[in-house]
Amino acid sequence: MRTIRLGYVGCGFMAQKVHLPNFSTIPGCELVALAELREELGRRVQRRLGIPKLYHGHTEMLADPEIDAVAISAGFTEQGWIARDALLAGKDVFVEKPMAVSLAQADAILEAERRSGRRLMVGYMKRYDAGVELAKRAVAQFRETGELGPITFVRNHGFCGDWICGLDTPMETTDEPMPETPASGPDWLPSEYMDQYLSYLQQYTHNINLLRWLLDAGDDVRVRVVDLDDDGYTGVVILDVAGVRAVIESGLISHYRWDEHTQIYFRHGWVKTWAPPLLLKQMPAGVEIYRAGEEQTFTRPIPKPAWSWSYKREAEHFIRCLQTGEPFRSPAEDARVDVRVLEEIFRAHLKQRGVL
Ligand SMILES: NC(=O)c1ccc[n+]([C@@H]2O[C@H](COP(=O)([O-])OP(=O)(O)OC[C@H]3O[C@@H](n4cnc5c(N)ncnc54)[C@H](O)[C@@H]3O)[C@@H](O)[C@H]2O)c1
Repeated sequence: MRTIRLGYVGCGFMAQKVHLPNFSTIPGCELVALAELREELGRRVQRRLGIPKLYHGHTEMLADPEIDAVAISAGFTEQGWIARDALLAGKDVFVEKPMAVSLAQADAILEAERRSGRRLMVGYMKRYDAGVELAKRAVAQFRETGELGPITFVRNHGFCGDWICGLDTPMETTDEPMPETPASGPDWLPSEYMDQYLSYLQQYTHNINLLRWLLDAGDDVRVRVVDLDDDGYTGVVILDVAGVRAVIESGLISHYRWDEHTQIYFRHGWVKTWAPPLLLKQMPAGVEIYRAGEEQTFTRPIPKPAWSWSYKREAEHFIRCLQTGEPFRSPAEDARVDVRVLEEIFRAHLKQRGVL
């Protein structure tokens, strides 16, 4: 298997806590360069992890012919443009979610993929969680066998909470200011609603993506009802996901864990999965299967591998796909659907408020 020489753009929180430690310990992946606009921070992280090269901005790094692929975690808006530049520079790309903050940006990224022949994978780590994989297999099996009858309803509850849970991976910080990157989104969105839109989008893009994946829905998603508070965050959204009514409950709670679960109801049972606190290493999502009928049973199957971290498996998947040519499980084309749905949700929300 060829070694993938990786350049990493942006060494903030996600890079230092999650992605740099992960990519730097995957066999077949060589972390050769770092790009960071905050120069002192870049130097400190480079030194600590022993990364051979340091660049200032991503543009200088992308000109380096020794780099095969690039991983990116920068600001919500900026990382999509960095990803497009990387594709056009001939690099394969891993980018954190959200891939894009507007359909226009998503389409520019897809166009760059087509023109360059390179590929982009989005960091939807839930798709690489061993527990979520198990839940998806169970749903597919019950649909095929009809054992639990048809799917009648899907509920995703996501009130957030403490997602870091004390992860003690060392983290370099400096007092250098964050780079100025003006927030941007769809053309139709009034600028005073940009922060609300980005706030909902950056969180619930995960949940929409997860529901589509669990139900094998692809692009078959329609927004039926939007009922969000003035904060543009708290409330309920009802989607039609491949013909199934699916509810997303959004909001915030002070909670020592991560308050998120998804339940797929069949006529005669359910498959339920609850997310671990996201940065709790080696802890996959939990799964419960309920079967009604003569003998009522609950089962709590153990995911395989039982101790594994979605983000690490996501990074391994990226490197393996580049080595083997197999398709990404969370490719750019598919992530475009989430951007479309999020634009539709917020458009409906602002129409109801008389803003549009
Ligand atoms: N998958 C998840 O669970 C999850 C969780 C949290 C955050 N995220 C995503 O990760 C992304 C990054 O979040 P974060 O908290 O690490 O951000 P951060 O602000 O801590 O770090 C971003 C870094 O990128 C650098 N940067 C920006 N533009 C650059 C450029 N052109 N060249 C080089 N460096 C550049 C900044 O200086 C900063 O250090 C966000 O888009 C967010 O949505 C994902």
